[in-house]
Amino acid sequence: MKQPVRVTVTGAAGQICYSLLFRIASGEMLGKDQPVILNLLEITPALKVCEAVAMELNDCAFPLVQDIVVTDDPAVAFKDANIGLMVGAKPRGPGMERKDLLTDNGKIFSALGKVIDQVADKNIRILVVGNPANTNAYILAKNAPSINQRNISALTRLDHNRAIYQLAEKADADIAGIKKMIIWGNHSVTQVPDISFATVNGEKAADKVDATWAKEEFMPIVAKRGAAVIAARGASSAASAANAILDHMHDWVLGSAEGDWVSMAVPSDGSYGIEEGLIYSYPVVCKNGDYEIVQGLEVSDFIKDKMIESQKELQEEAETCKDLF
Ligand code: NAD
Ligand code: LMR
Repeated sequence: MKQPVRVTVTGAAGQICYSLLFRIASGEMLGKDQPVILNLLEITPALKVCEAVAMELNDCAFPLVQDIVVTDDPAVAFKDANIGLMVGAKPRGPGMERKDLLTDNGKIFSALGKVIDQVADKNIRILVVGNPANTNAYILAKNAPSINQRNISALTRLDHNRAIYQLAEKADADIAGIKKMIIWGNHSVTQVPDISFATVNGEKAADKVDATWAKEEFMPIVAKRGAAVIAARGASSAASAANAILDHMHDWVLGSAEGDWVSMAVPSDGSYGIEEGLIYSYPVVCKNGDYEIVQGLEVSDFIKDKMIESQKELQEEAETCKDLF
């Protein structure tokens, strides 16, 4: 029997977590042979609902769940944590951009960053989901200097999956036939969904769909999909977000598929000319529990300009919340 992995999940009484926790507990994130301890963090007024979620988790009798801790104390939730899924934050409503949440949500991530710095495993793998995810991850990283900074990431896998679906639909191909999709930049409307290197059943995507569709339909549809879901549902995406969280962590820990890559927002190491330290989405390959940014891609001028625009937005977001670090 493997040693249990301690997984801390914030916002555990919220919408995303109601789709997420049961799938973690069933082994979909870390494997069917990996026991887990679930530390569920909520704010005090939501503790009762969080207890109810824990009751339901218990009632599933998941063999992999060794313990469930429900708490409103971040120091308890993150003590020795190996994985931190940072979901707890306000979602946006219709007509808002994700960065409009910065004033309310940024302070959650500065506070939790400080606690993580003190009590978590130094190699904790962090995934920030609460919006604006990249800048919240940036804030957390700045407040947790003793934590392995490489391991502080934000979620763009949902955008990646959305992009795969759009391309598969347009090319009349199976989802499994789409490889090497890329999301560059910020999880915002400036993100850069890029099919330049994508393949459809082994052939270049660019030969299967026309360039005008890619620029004028594919890119804005993917970039604005979160808002389209909010408009249709009256609430932000939840089950698809939970699914993307599982994909992100699964691949990071257990490896991404051979011959493919995935998108993760990670601290830039300067790759592709992006400012070091910004939490920027790149194509990555995951192996041996780590990720590597895919290097050497010849990015077109059109995509490069958009990548710089997304970088600029991240720089501006960082500037507006610099009192938080
Ligand atoms: P929700 O309102 O249903 O749940 C959020 C939960 O977080 C609530 O239960 C709330 O009590 C809790 N919470 C608030 N502050 C907290 C804190 N300091 N510590 C612990 N818990 C706290 O929202 P949701 O639909 O689950 O979405 C959560 C966040 O995820 C939002 O910011 C949303 O915009 C974001 N999101 C991101 C992506 C992505 O792809 N990056 C996708 C979907 C949603
Ligand atoms: C999404 O992409 O669905 C989430 O970030 C929620 C949102 O506000 O769009």
